[in-house]
Amino acid sequence: MANSLITRDYVKILDQEDPLQNFKDEFYQEGFYYMDGNSLGLLSRRSENTLASSLQDWKQHAIEGWTEGNEPWFYMSEKIGAMTAPLIGAKPEEVINTGSITSNLHQLFATFYKPEGKRTKVLADTLNFPSDIYAIKSQIHWHGLDPNDHLIQVHSEDGYTLDEDKIIEKMNEDIAILLLPSVLYRSGQLLDMEKITKAAHHYGIIVGFDLAHSIGALPHRLSEWGVDFAVWCTYKYLNSGPGGVGGLYVNERHLGNSPGLAGWFSSDKNKQFDMSHDLTPAESAGAFQLGTPHILSSAPLIGSLELFSEAGIENVREKSLRLTRLLMDLIQQELSGYGFKIANPSKDDRRGGHVCLIHEEAASICKALKQEAVIPDFRSPNVIRLAPIAFYTSYEDVYEVVLLLKDIVKNEKQKQFKNERDIIA
Ligand SMILES: Cc1ncc(COP(=O)(O)O)c(C=O)c1O
Repeated sequence: MANSLITRDYVKILDQEDPLQNFKDEFYQEGFYYMDGNSLGLLSRRSENTLASSLQDWKQHAIEGWTEGNEPWFYMSEKIGAMTAPLIGAKPEEVINTGSITSNLHQLFATFYKPEGKRTKVLADTLNFPSDIYAIKSQIHWHGLDPNDHLIQVHSEDGYTLDEDKIIEKMNEDIAILLLPSVLYRSGQLLDMEKITKAAHHYGIIVGFDLAHSIGALPHRLSEWGVDFAVWCTYKYLNSGPGGVGGLYVNERHLGNSPGLAGWFSSDKNKQFDMSHDLTPAESAGAFQLGTPHILSSAPLIGSLELFSEAGIENVREKSLRLTRLLMDLIQQELSGYGFKIANPSKDDRRGGHVCLIHEEAASICKALKQEAVIPDFRSPNVIRLAPIAFYTSYEDVYEVVLLLKDIVKNEKQKQFKNERDIIA
């Protein structure tokens, strides 16, 4: 489509030919264009039903709901782990639904970060989400070490993206463990996880990834690449709802060892209720759980993962790439001369599920968009993130959003708002 004009008729044809078009009706989306599914995904009818089903199990079975009812709670985390495994290219036993990104990072650092001899350092980057860096620094402190000496953060040349070769240059035998995002939360750059893992393993470094911005947006092959561990949240592309329980992956070669942090849900399930004071850890990633699972914050995920299994993650990725490509092409077609710059990588194999649009009035433009019933996502100081989610965004929605954006900047509608962030942004 590069040189011809993109018209409404053209995008309508794309919608008619879209094999995933029917999934839109599975989601609640009335009266707004939603471009923020990379922060909080929308509620699907399917998730609503699986949550209602767990409530019904509670109503009907009370304590017996742990082992009886529609979806026995005692096995729910493992079941969700198995349902998640195809999205990340893992074996069912390598995945468990538990915790949050931050708490899971603490668990996996407690398990894998064992500074010894000269191998004491952690390799990360300067663009990762703050919570990951806080977790790493506190883990370094926990070992009585100083993050100023023991945390190596690879810099970005342009402030938005990272160069894998620069990351690899920092690898050596002083590094114990590496943690990087799969997709950068601001720019949407997709890192080459396979290349990074291979290089890190050459130096004997344990490799972890934060999949917050890639899980549910694109396929992964974690087992094949040999990634040691990964963490993610489920409230973004996986549509589990606010505070939905996260997940973790541990490569099978590490299974069967004791978790760094233990609790009774780390147990082999058959032994858990023996109530022994000596833990027998599960042989699966289940060993990295701590206490009682948060059933009502997990149940919606079952419905949502059913949708992924029906659609296929490869198809979700294909549509997502077409949506973000259309969005970038339309930005170029309609918004040239209005001070916008696209900061995400343009190549298909280098970008995740959102477009990163830079503008010096980004904060006020986001407020003006909300006034026009478009929900974008602002990231300080100058980023508008637009995520056209494959399940519930049509090509015509993308067209409409760009026209609304054009109307705002053309008529300077953003000027009625302060160009500063709200309490949550
Ligand atoms: C990339 C990334 N890492 C970590 C977090 C923090 O996740 P949690 O609050 O689930 O621990 C987020 C939250 O949005 C995130 O986007």
